[in-house]
Amino acid sequence: TDGLNSFAVRRGKYFGTAGDWIYDDVMNCTWARIASDPSEFGSITPGNSQKWDTTESSQGSFNYADSDQIVAWALKYGKKIRGHALVWHSQLPSWVSTGSWNATTLKAVVENHVTQVATHFKGKMFHWDVVNEAFNEDGTFRDSIFYQILGESYIEIALRAAAAADPAAKLYINDYNVEGVNAKSTALLNLFKRLKAAGVPVHGLGLQGHLISGQVPTDIEANLNRMAAAGAEIAITELDIRMNVPPANQTAADAQLAKDYETVTKACKVTGRCVGITVWNFTDKNSWVPSVFAGQGDALPWDKNFQKKPAYYAIARTL
Ligand code: XIL
Repeated sequence: TDGLNSFAVRRGKYFGTAGDWIYDDVMNCTWARIASDPSEFGSITPGNSQKWDTTESSQGSFNYADSDQIVAWALKYGKKIRGHALVWHSQLPSWVSTGSWNATTLKAVVENHVTQVATHFKGKMFHWDVVNEAFNEDGTFRDSIFYQILGESYIEIALRAAAAADPAAKLYINDYNVEGVNAKSTALLNLFKRLKAAGVPVHGLGLQGHLISGQVPTDIEANLNRMAAAGAEIAITELDIRMNVPPANQTAADAQLAKDYETVTKACKVTGRCVGITVWNFTDKNSWVPSVFAGQGDALPWDKNFQKKPAYYAIARTL
């Protein structure tokens, strides 16, 4: 039978979902039945288990218990895996964020973390989000501990360590609010160009795609095109399109959401360098949205009861 991934594969792309053993009910039969179906999902992104606070919660002590489970599950079902995320200011243990570092000591910490984690999963990740959310909305660098101590060089340090540890993985810089043409996406693109010009190993730009229904940027396609023209591979990495819930008019809300999913899907479809789309979980039952954006939800193609919404059919039709 056909599904979102089988349609994507016909375009030379993949369709994936986020999921994680301990957070997303992988043992739930319905979740697992849909997520494991290769016609729906060709790729999985561990939603939390590869983040720094889980993999190295205390310095030099590495833990892969949760991530190894989701990775084994994904490999059993023949899925590609998007590694996520090696260097990020969030879900970062306090020994890193509040340590008293200088450039030499923090560089060693970043290099060791990236090397250890990427080596552990060597050959199993087709992409790695090496650096996540490096920018502010105005295109300046986010004032993370990494940027404070190392400046922009932390990005190169992380990319080089990842390339050395797992030469087969495509290395991504991932961010949100970079789907349309704006100051932040321009800064991301300019960073990519600088890294390329300096011979730093980097392959892709990840556009998270945490969007709002009815407010999807109209210039996504133009933005993807300018990134592709700079030689970047592009992935939509964490797509969900939230709305206020419950909507005043369910039918209208479903139709708008379908239109929004169509806009994003079409932009990836027509951009040759856009390699695939990942939804940030696939069912409203397991979305992160309601816990983080008060009063919002209904952001995914399957509803809380695992039923396909009009958005699902819009993606399928558009791919
Ligand atoms: C989210 C997870 O889905 C939640 O379970 C967790 O509590 C917070 O992080 N950008 C990212 C993802 O790159 O890692 C985030 O995932 C969502 C925003």
